[in-house]
Amino acid sequence: MEIVMESADKKVALVTGAAAGIGREIAVQLHAAGYRVALADLNIDRILQLQLALDPTAESVRAYRLDVRSGDQIAEVFARAADDLGTLSALVNNAGIYPNHPALEMTEAEWDSVLDTNLKGAFFCCQAFARAAAGDKAPRAIVNLASTSAYSARPGAAHYGASKAAVIMLTKSLAQEFGPLGIRVNAVAPGLVQVDRANVNESYRKQFVNMVPSGRVGHPADIAGVVLFLVSPAAAYVNGECIIVDGGFLTGRMLQNS
Ligand code: NAI
Repeated sequence: MEIVMESADKKVALVTGAAAGIGREIAVQLHAAGYRVALADLNIDRILQLQLALDPTAESVRAYRLDVRSGDQIAEVFARAADDLGTLSALVNNAGIYPNHPALEMTEAEWDSVLDTNLKGAFFCCQAFARAAAGDKAPRAIVNLASTSAYSARPGAAHYGASKAAVIMLTKSLAQEFGPLGIRVNAVAPGLVQVDRANVNESYRKQFVNMVPSGRVGHPADIAGVVLFLVSPAAAYVNGECIIVDGGFLTGRMLQNS
């Protein structure tokens, strides 16, 4: 049996939502591992800054303004990235939003903004990636960012939890359809991760940490390390999987019976 090993040398990865938080760290680590990296985000100023910080010549890093809610923009950015950096070999669907909206007050616009960003955007990025790759059957990998909210509900996150549960089934469906093309499709489900903006208030963070066996919230590097594993040859036979990276949060309730 022939095992085709993937090497990071001259490989090209596109990361959505690369301007901040987890996506930024994934982009930084992919670049450090030898990937040429396409940074895609709504916030063009921040990804241009990251491009400059990682490679002032822009030969190995390029920034593209992208709203993943737009199929036209996805098609255009994927084509430009391939022209500038080479055929994509890895895609990380990280762009996502997680606003809190109680179900009774949820508007159609709020629902659509979360589903369009987290689910529809991820699907059409996967489609653009696979369409461009379909010819040569070289080993390629997609990693989708899910969340522990796909498994464990919290108030105010009906749209978010539904979008992330759907991302996991999207991952399995596309693993089946893209496997024959040489493309592995996996997901990572982070627990609470501390990012540069205040994504949760201090009281929520404290209560949350009490429910995490590892005794802390996650850092973007905790997630990036698993994403790098999933795109690497070490994960060559991992396909359609979702790896939970939550310090043990989903193991159960941390209640003492004393
Ligand atoms: P963040 O808010 O720090 O960064 C998200 C990035 O995505 C930003 O740069 C933003 O400009 C970009 N973005 C938002 N909408 C976009 C759009 N329509 N098109 C292109 N880019 C867009 O988010 P964070 O915390 O780093 O989360 C990253 C991913 O990880 C998301 O998918 C999120 O749902 C997931 N996640 C995060 C957790 C956390 O605790 N931070 C926990 C579980 C999952």
